[in-house]
Amino acid sequence: MKDRYLDFVNSPFGTSIARSLGLPRPEALRRLRAGETEFGGMAAIGAGPSPALFDDLLAVLSGIGMTGIAHDSASGWLAVASRQGAMSGRFEARATDSSPANRVQALIFDATGIVESSELHALYAFFHDALRSLARSGRIVVLGRPPGALSDPRAATAQRALEGLTRSLGKEARNGSTANLLRVSPQASIEGALRFFLSPRSAYVSGQAVHLEGAAPSPAKWAAQLAGKRALVTGAARGIGASIAAVLAAHGAIVTGLDVAAARDALDQTMLGIEDASPSNGAHTALYADIASPEAPAELAAALAASGGIDIVVHNAGITRDKTIARMSAEMWDSVIDINLLAQERMDEALLAQNVIGAGGRIVAVSSISGIAGNRGQTNYATSKAGVIGRVQSMAPILHERGITINAVAPGFIETQMTARMPFGVREAGRRLNSMGQGGLPVDVAETVAWLASPGSAGVTGQVVRVCGQSLVGA
Ligand code: NAI
Repeated sequence: MKDRYLDFVNSPFGTSIARSLGLPRPEALRRLRAGETEFGGMAAIGAGPSPALFDDLLAVLSGIGMTGIAHDSASGWLAVASRQGAMSGRFEARATDSSPANRVQALIFDATGIVESSELHALYAFFHDALRSLARSGRIVVLGRPPGALSDPRAATAQRALEGLTRSLGKEARNGSTANLLRVSPQASIEGALRFFLSPRSAYVSGQAVHLEGAAPSPAKWAAQLAGKRALVTGAARGIGASIAAVLAAHGAIVTGLDVAAARDALDQTMLGIEDASPSNGAHTALYADIASPEAPAELAAALAASGGIDIVVHNAGITRDKTIARMSAEMWDSVIDINLLAQERMDEALLAQNVIGAGGRIVAVSSISGIAGNRGQTNYATSKAGVIGRVQSMAPILHERGITINAVAPGFIETQMTARMPFGVREAGRRLNSMGQGGLPVDVAETVAWLASPGSAGVTGQVVRVCGQSLVGA
């Protein structure tokens, strides 16, 4: 459904009306369009004492064609840049708002060496100087350490404090900018996550703290990082699932889209569109099944085993049957728990029992911010979606031994047929009560799924990444 307010306030006429009436003007978020370059421009670099990630960070920036310029807090950056033969320079703090030409595309702070809270002052110094220099739809990334892995309580305290800073920056940055925290374990690869969080692909992901653990291989080509991977997407006929199928295919995956037989026409349409956009010699396929039927898991496992196994499983199919619990029928409760939660469990059990998902496999489940915050009229739905989070967290260590990751995305308000059916007031509240002042698009969820499904995300598991524009709900 179209967000007419967003379109209006970003039109030439609407901009001046909004300005003169003092109306909020949500930014038209920059998303990746065909033919546009994904990265470019400058990133201002700040740091606390003893930053550990300058070499890795510089290598990533060079690889994506961005130039890191050093704030006073990051004096060691210039030496690392000259050692690596990379372009660099000094970031000049300006007293007033910078002109668009002088803006930087990203602000990146290496906080890995911060071991006590007095050292957090370096973050103040950097962001105080640099925030007004950030371009529209800019990116803020703070690099820290996982507090739980630190034995010194003062170091763990200071590292935990980074979360409050990052989330607040997301709320202050405005103009479609995002702010996220990467908690990087020693030896963990940062490239996959940095490429996602610096990209327009993460347009609607803000205020998140993601833990990176362990090394990850770099794909031969980042532009086709899922090349040759076989992916199953449930609920692929429409909405978010259709977008996930299309985005995975665009990243090179061979997609099996699954939906109920009643959605056959829509699923065929989706798969045809994908085939046209990313030809796979007819290898993209459609499967018609009700994931909650008792025979579905075994049949699915047999079908996927026969076609050579599966690398990526995306549990997207889901339903809502909303009513307050006192008015909810048992059938409404059971069907939601069955489709949104139990079907995922049974399906994974069948696929894992028969080794249909092998080492290097990726499971991504679609949860919801309702599963984090709860929602009136959605006891069944929120229960199922919180269960999805529990599943991801509890399965991660078990699957780790098999080289498989499992993560969840928790969308906020996404513009789909499901949200178009909401009453006007609820819909407007869902759209506006987040740092972006607007709903997300299915592609925002799909790109996040693609990042979690990629080889570069080998070190990301057991986590929940919200795709909610930093919604106030459950924050
Ligand atoms: P949608 O209703 O547009 O699409 C869901 C798809 O799943 C449909 O094609 C449907 O036929 C399929 N499906 C339902 N039951 C199935 C079954 N038993 N077997 C096979 N396929 C089945 O929903 P939308 O908005 O695209 O949502 C996708 C996922 O994202 C769901 O899990 C939903 O709970 C979740 N989500 C959506 C949000 C939003 O704002 N739209 C927010 C948070 C989470």
